[in-house]
Amino acid sequence: MQAAIAARERAYAPYSHFTVGAALLCEDGDVVTGCNVENASYGLSMCAERVALFTARALGKRAGNLLCVAGPPGYLSAPCGACRQVMFEFNAGMNVSFTTPDGTTTAQLHDLLPSAFVLAPQAAPGKV
Ligand code: THU
Repeated sequence: MQAAIAARERAYAPYSHFTVGAALLCEDGDVVTGCNVENASYGLSMCAERVALFTARALGKRAGNLLCVAGPPGYLSAPCGACRQVMFEFNAGMNVSFTTPDGTTTAQLHDLLPSAFVLAPQAAPGKV
């Protein structure tokens, strides 16, 4: 969580002013961080969690079992649904810690996203 708090300082959030940092523990023990990066074309903005998850992949690292999310003090910073689905892709069994108005809480991704989307086998190429 200290790494997530530090990463939050690098957030680029001139539109929402809601700065977020994330830190992913990787299988090799390294911690890969991310921050939210917004854009004047709002829909192009990216959450801190996905920046961390995608950066880890680009670095050739495997997601470990903990991702920490730090938002502005006093706010709930539970990860958005899109980020939960991306977490599921890389480690369905991970735990997620996030800041709350009172401090920090930890939940299992299974509980945060009980019915994740999975690509139906019959939709795979060559199976039609
Ligand atoms: N944001 C995150 O970084 N993570 C989340 O899980 C939810 C929202 C960012 C996106 C946007 O830059 C700002 O918070 C306000 O939505």
